[in-house]
Parts: sequence; C-alpha cells; structure tokens
Amino acid sequence: MDKDAMITAVVDENIRSRRSARAFLPTPVPREEIDAVLRIASRSPSGTNTQPWKVYVVSGEARISLSAKILDVYNDPEKMKQHQREPFDWPQPYLGRRRKVGWDLYNLIGIPKADKERMHAQHGRNYAFFDAPVGLIFTIERVLKQSSFLDCGMFMQTIMLAACARGIDTCPQGAFIQFEKIIAEHLRLPEGERVICGMAMGYADPAAPENNLVTERDPLENFVRYIE
Ligand SMILES: Cc1cc2nc3c(=O)[nH]c(=O)nc-3n(C[C@H](O)[C@H](O)[C@H](O)COP(=O)(O)O)c2cc1C
Repeated sequence: MDKDAMITAVVDENIRSRRSARAFLPTPVPREEIDAVLRIASRSPSGTNTQPWKVYVVSGEARISLSAKILDVYNDPEKMKQHQREPFDWPQPYLGRRRKVGWDLYNLIGIPKADKERMHAQHGRNYAFFDAPVGLIFTIERVLKQSSFLDCGMFMQTIMLAACARGIDTCPQGAFIQFEKIIAEHLRLPEGERVICGMAMGYADPAAPENNLVTERDPLENFVRYIE
C-alpha cells in the first residue's frame, strides 16, 4: 500500500471505529491528552473563521457535584417541572430511527419495553456522564445564529475523531441541554452563553453490554442525489 492509500485507510478506519460509549472505566484521561485533542480539534473549520465554540472541561469533584445536582432534579418529578422542554413530535423517518437506537440499547442491557423505571434510570446515566472521568460542556454565545451551531458540531466531531485516534472514547450528549440552568449556575457561565451539548470522555468499559451497540446507517441511495 502506498503512503496516500495508507492515510486514507487509517482516516476511514478512525471514522468507522468511533462509536458512542455509554459506560466508562474510572481511568483518568491525562490533561496533556485532553489538551492535545482540543488543540487539534480547534483546526475545525468555522464560518469566516469565527471559532464560536467554548468548552468547559469538568472532572474530579466538579463533575461529581454537577452530576449530583442534575440527578437530584431529574429524579424528582416536582423539581422537573421547572426543566420541561417544549415537546417536539419527530416526523418519520426520524422517529423510527430514534426508536430503533433506543430499543437496540435497551435490548443489549436487558430493559424490557414496559419497564419505564429502568428506562428512566438508564437515561439518567447521561447525567453521570456514564461514569466517564471527564465531562465536556459546549457553549456558544446566545447572540449567535444557526451557522455557529454547525461550527460547534464540526468542532465536536473533530474532538471525537481526535480522541478516538488516541484510544479515548466519547459520547456526545444533547441530554444536558435540558438542565442548562443548573449547569450555568454550577460552571458560573457568563450570562450571554448558552449550553448546546455535553460530551462524556474517557476509556470505554469493554465488559459493559451497552458498549456493544453498533448503529446502522442508511445506504447512499436514500440520501444522495447526483444531478448532472
Ligand atoms: C448532537 C448529538 C447529541 C447526542 N445526545 C446523546 C445523548 O444525550 N445521550 C446519548 O446516549 N447519546 C447521544 N448521542 C449519541 C447518538 O445516539 C449516536 O451518535 C447515534 O446513535 C449514532 O451512534 P454512534 O455515535 O455510536 O455512531 C448524541 C449524538 C449527537 C450527534
């Protein structure tokens, strides 16, 4: 294999092998590794090089107490009333895809369809960052618009790939958005910043069944049109 073909194979394999991990070992991620991942990810493109992303790296006591504050609310229906999100009816085919990934995960960990309590508990694992030693909270300034969200998404994907290349696992976590108020207070976010996503980072537990989830992708013909 020549050098170019080798690079292509390595890059493709990195993209293919990245998966969302949902159970982590307590093994800490060295600060230099986190810095290296974030530094290379800052090479991500952004509209007119605006680089709108901000990331809060939460570990140790700060991570544990953030999780505790969120879970205290998440597990209390009365307190949850202040954190309700506007309902959104996902249309097909997105609804079907969401359900499939959910059932596939619950099947792997043995949660039957009717077991609302265990589903609630499993979703709650998000707020413990699935026990990952590092949690990332992504914010952008409130005044920014749609294109800045895209920029931040690209930044996040580059983080995940750069982490994967170093043997570090991740899980992007939109679940945190619901608890923006608690996060803002805990991290003392400036007034003008909004939480747009979270991410767990660490080393996946190879013995955890939830980490065997392999998600499907639609074939090209379902989402590509060549127009000549
Ligand atoms: C913006 C975004 C938000 C996500 N939020 C969550 C989340 O809150 N909890 C979770 O377990 N997975 C979350 N995921 C992971 C997706 O479920 C996952 O990427 C998808 O099922 C494809 O699986 P893969 O990442 O293993 O390829 C999120 C992914 C993205 C891109």
